[in-house]
Amino acid sequence: MSGLFITLEGPEGAGKSTNREYLAERLREHSIDVVMTREPGGTPLAEKIREILLSPTDEAMAADTELLLVFAARAQHLAQVIRPALKRGAVVLCDRFTDATYAYQGGGRGLSEARIGVLESFVQGDLRPDLTLVFDLPIEVGLARAAERGRLDRFEQEGHDFFNAVRQTYLRHAAQAPERYRIVNAAQSLAEVQASIDALLPQIVELCRG
Ligand code: TMP
Repeated sequence: MSGLFITLEGPEGAGKSTNREYLAERLREHSIDVVMTREPGGTPLAEKIREILLSPTDEAMAADTELLLVFAARAQHLAQVIRPALKRGAVVLCDRFTDATYAYQGGGRGLSEARIGVLESFVQGDLRPDLTLVFDLPIEVGLARAAERGRLDRFEQEGHDFFNAVRQTYLRHAAQAPERYRIVNAAQSLAEVQASIDALLPQIVELCRG
């Protein structure tokens, strides 16, 4: 595969979608072929699985069901969008990927990393993101922003301990592999967050150019 796989991660309300658009625009200014996508979702079928994952239900979803649905959506997304785009040499900018599974299903739900790792290898083979930007911010700030957006989805309805575990898992993984991760302080104003992205841009463009 010759393209570049960049993922954006972070807890709720970190402003990933806005910043994803911003980064894509900056990269396109450098004539880079960018495919913007998201998880769970990114294809019609995977978006249907997203609906199941995010809709609040009366029947509690078992943690293993949630894990398998996340990876089912990912298998479809990889086959239809991510692998073909990388094959043609594009830069894939994906809003969340398997780091979110470690953070939410691992940290949040308490599933073991070994269990997640088995599915990661099964679904992805040896494909891993080349670069991951973690938009980090205090849980209270993120949840307040998410609440402003309106009705809370099934994940957003979780409590403080869940989101604390999510955040700590992202930070622990980032500390373990600093060559792959960049942490962006998402508690700053939008202009400041975008200035942080601008500061990372030369390295990202260089990676894109291979
Ligand atoms: P979003 O709000 O960033 O679009 O993400 C949707 C939700 O899905 C978010 O609460 C995190 C959750 N999620 C997981 O629990 N596991 C995963 O692997 C992914 C990709 C997302």
